[in-house]
Amino acid sequence: SEPLRLGIAGLGTVGAGVVKIVRQKAALLEARTGRPIVISAVSARNRDKERGVSLATYEWVDDPVALAARDDIDVFVELIGGSDGPAKAATEAALKAGKDVVTANKALLAHHGQALAELAEAKGCVLRFEAAVAGGIPVIKALTEGLAANEVTRVMGVMNGTCNYILTRMENAGLTYEQAFDEADKLGYLEADPELDVGGIDAGHKLSLLSAIAYGTQVDFHAVELEGIGRVSAEDIRQAADMGYRIKLLGVCRLTGRGLEQSMAPCLVPATSPLGQLDGGTNMVVIEGDQVGQIVLRGAGAGEGPTASAVMGDVMDIARGTRLSTFGAPASLLKRATPAKSTAP
Ligand code: HSE
Repeated sequence: SEPLRLGIAGLGTVGAGVVKIVRQKAALLEARTGRPIVISAVSARNRDKERGVSLATYEWVDDPVALAARDDIDVFVELIGGSDGPAKAATEAALKAGKDVVTANKALLAHHGQALAELAEAKGCVLRFEAAVAGGIPVIKALTEGLAANEVTRVMGVMNGTCNYILTRMENAGLTYEQAFDEADKLGYLEADPELDVGGIDAGHKLSLLSAIAYGTQVDFHAVELEGIGRVSAEDIRQAADMGYRIKLLGVCRLTGRGLEQSMAPCLVPATSPLGQLDGGTNMVVIEGDQVGQIVLRGAGAGEGPTASAVMGDVMDIARGTRLSTFGAPASLLKRATPAKSTAP
């Protein structure tokens, strides 16, 4: 049958990972979707960087906006990053040209998700972003497919591995915040703008997407009550430990009689709970539904393999013919939620 042709913009860690899967697992992808998945063209800022995979057989397009609208691609894979600029321009160009879009870009969706979803719907395109939330953990699929019949009562989670790494090192190795931050920096964990991590912004982007999906509402990042980890001290951590708690940068969303609460802030969690046992640069999402009860998803929230795994899951769904809409509901029917101030989790 007809190949599904990808155009990939952005060849950093995740982009290189996607190219590797397409090249190295071609037979598996075809066996599982019923059609070959191929790359037609790619785009990135730096053509000569060593990425550990050959790009020689792909058309190179300097401008991602031009790549997005090419006739020889069916799916535009946006891995550029950033809430505006080329990522937004290219995503819009792809949808306007009738291409399906797969992206890992949480900042783009947190700020423009509703408008992009409406554009996709108007054009009959699919916009998917599993990789944007909790990296390799298929949490969006869980909410929109496996748990679709549930009323979600609460979603909680640790969604920024860098912050969890820093807090874990402060606890387990007795480091100060500054020492743990420097360690995370040396390991290459921090975003180009570290404030996105330690300010809770990256995690807040992800929570705003999960809230919208869980409650069928429009994404409202500005309604997230945000506090980063910069003010957590070694003393806070010691006191929490004495009481049997650990401090986590925890996202919580739930619908109350007053409206939708969304918060991302340092919280005390019982040391013996699943969230309390989450060490290092890992993510965890806890979902509570009226039928399913509580489920816990845990895994890598970042990195080449895990994030590319999530991107390819979306690509393969499109290859199989899914038209499942982005937020698990038609974008045009999503209502704005009334924001409510959070109480304790
Ligand atoms: N900076 C993010 C994290 C990367 O540490 O989790 C994945 O979004």
